[in-house]
Amino acid sequence: MTTNKETKTDIFDTSNSGPDFFIRRCVVEDLDEVIDINEQELPEDYPYFFYKSILDNFPECFLVAQNERGRIIAYIMWRVEKAPSINSLKYINKGHLVSIAVSERARRKGIGKSLLLHSMKAIKKYKIHEYVLEVRVSNYTAIRLYEKFNYKIESIKKNYYRDGENAYFMTLNAKHF
Ligand code: ACO
Ligand code: ZN
Repeated sequence: MTTNKETKTDIFDTSNSGPDFFIRRCVVEDLDEVIDINEQELPEDYPYFFYKSILDNFPECFLVAQNERGRIIAYIMWRVEKAPSINSLKYINKGHLVSIAVSERARRKGIGKSLLLHSMKAIKKYKIHEYVLEVRVSNYTAIRLYEKFNYKIESIKKNYYRDGENAYFMTLNAKHF
C-alpha cells in the first residue's frame, strides 16, 4: 500500500516552483511544522484541532511547500463556506482563505504565488463561486500578492483583529480565475 501516501500527497506540477522547493498537499504529519511557521510569521494563532479540522474537511486546497531537505517552508489553507449570494436568495459556496505564510528566509522566491495559484485551482473541486479573504490594512506585501491575482478590496472590516487593526475584505469571482 505504498501508493496510498503518494496519491494523498500528490506533488503538484513544479513548473511554477523554483529548483529548491516543491508544492504538495499537506498531510497530518506536516501539521506541527505548519503550526511552527504560523506561530513564527503571523500573530493569529490557532489550536491544533483547528488545523486538523481544516485538513480533514478541505484537504484538496491545504498545500505546503517543501524544501530540498524535506522541511516545510510555507503553507496555505482554505475553508469552504455557504453564504447567501448578494443578488438572490440562493446559497453559494465561497472559498475563504484562512491563512498563508512563507517562512521569512524563503520569501520572494515565488512560493507565495505558487501556493495561491495551485490552491485556487484545487479549491474549484468544491464548486465555489467566489474567493474571499481578510488581510491587515498594513500588510502591503500580502495585499500586493492578492492584487496580482486580481482580488479587489470589497470593504473594510473595522477592528477585525484582536489588536484593533482593520482588515480589507478582498474578493475575486471564481469565473475570473
Ligand atoms: N514587497 C512588495 N511586494 C512583495 C513583497 C515585498 N517584500 N513580497 C512579495 N510581494 C508581492 C509581489 O507582488 C510579488 O510578486 P513579484 O515577485 O512578481 O513582484 C508577489 O507578492 C509574490 O511574491 P512571492 O515571492 O510569491 O511571495 P512570498 O513567497 O514572499 O510570500 C507572503 C508572500 C505569503 C505574503 C509572505 O510575505 C508572508 O508569509 N508574509 C507573512 C505572513 C502573511 O502576512 N500572510 C498573509 C496574511 S493574510 C491571510 O493569510 C488571509
Ligand atoms: Zn478570514
